[in-house]
Amino acid sequence: MKYKLLGRSGLKVSELCLGTMGFGTEAGWGADKAASFAIMEAFANAGGNFLDTANIYKLGTSEKIIGEFIQPRDRDFFVIATKYSLKDNTTNPNASGNNRKNMMRSVEASLKRLQTDFIDVLYLHIWDDLTPIDEILRGIDDLVRQGKVNYAAISDTPAWIVSKGNTMAELMGWSPFIALQVEYSLLQRSPERDLTPMAKHYGMTVTPWAPLAGGALTGKYLKGGQGRVKPESNRRDENSVRITRVVMDIAEKLGVEPSHVALQWTRQQGFESIPIVGATRLEQLQENLRTLDLTLSPEDLRILDEASAIDLGFPHKFFREEGVRQNNYGGFYDKIVPRS
Ligand SMILES: NC(=O)c1ccc[n+]([C@@H]2O[C@H](COP(=O)([O-])OP(=O)(O)OC[C@H]3O[C@@H](n4cnc5c(N)ncnc54)[C@H](OP(=O)(O)O)[C@@H]3O)[C@@H](O)[C@H]2O)c1
Repeated sequence: MKYKLLGRSGLKVSELCLGTMGFGTEAGWGADKAASFAIMEAFANAGGNFLDTANIYKLGTSEKIIGEFIQPRDRDFFVIATKYSLKDNTTNPNASGNNRKNMMRSVEASLKRLQTDFIDVLYLHIWDDLTPIDEILRGIDDLVRQGKVNYAAISDTPAWIVSKGNTMAELMGWSPFIALQVEYSLLQRSPERDLTPMAKHYGMTVTPWAPLAGGALTGKYLKGGQGRVKPESNRRDENSVRITRVVMDIAEKLGVEPSHVALQWTRQQGFESIPIVGATRLEQLQENLRTLDLTLSPEDLRILDEASAIDLGFPHKFFREEGVRQNNYGGFYDKIVPRS
């Protein structure tokens, strides 16, 4: 396992992040405490230090399991990322949302469940389209100054809002968002429109969630395997199956597993990326860790890119029109070396 710097920070995190949304058996799926412990043990033994959880995962059970696991071990080795925003209950209008009151309440509850004095990375979970971005940044910055949080990060939020927030953070001397968590995989490439270019511009690490599309990209459903992705899910529709078959073909050619191809693809997209991969069984984690031995060739990347391409829409498609290029660059388009 190698370590990467998380965004524009000095924090060293393992090049794979362990997703723990499936720790706990609530809602009829997931790993029980013993299986979760085995998964974390194997991850840590492989050098993995980066764990992703949230207040809402399995109604707090995920954080509790992590807390119990880490408490007798070396807390300082682990980089615990958790999230606030999603509901802890439905009786209090401020037990959900991005507002400061919920942030403070949620962080205190997470610290208790995690049995720790500090959270390494606090993500806003999902944008509520209500709270001003400066309220959020100032709130996280206060938590950083109180020593309860080390770094700020953000998930599932439009690019223009993150962009405004990070510009304000720079001007105000607040802790900026250093990581951007978005759904990103060969079955979900829409973040390429604005989110991933924005992250690259601000030096943020992209932390793709569901990099295996919840398990669909492992190809197991096409081989009669079981899992939580329902047959009616768009992750198993005709187009997704077509893309998954391309992943399986490349894996077969290379003598690796489809999960390796799908995960590695998210790591070779020209921006800093640390996929958050979930596992509900030890064997799944063990298989996923072997991704780190794979490098995809330019030809295989091209095949995967073509198979999973999306319509970028306006204005991205417009910029690529030949007439627009001629007008924009005076015919020099192919002679200008872009910034890397
Ligand atoms: N910010 C957000 O809004 C957000 C949303 C969702 C998730 N997340 C984070 O991202 C993490 C990953 O998301 P995810 O779990 O939805 O997606 P994922 O990593 O794409 O899929 C993980 C699931 O795929 C199956 N799987 C994993 N490895 C496998 C293997 N080698 N062979 C066969 N099946 C395998 C397991 O499902 P089965 O249990 O069905 O076998 C596992 O739970 C979560 O744990 C969470 O930390 C964040």
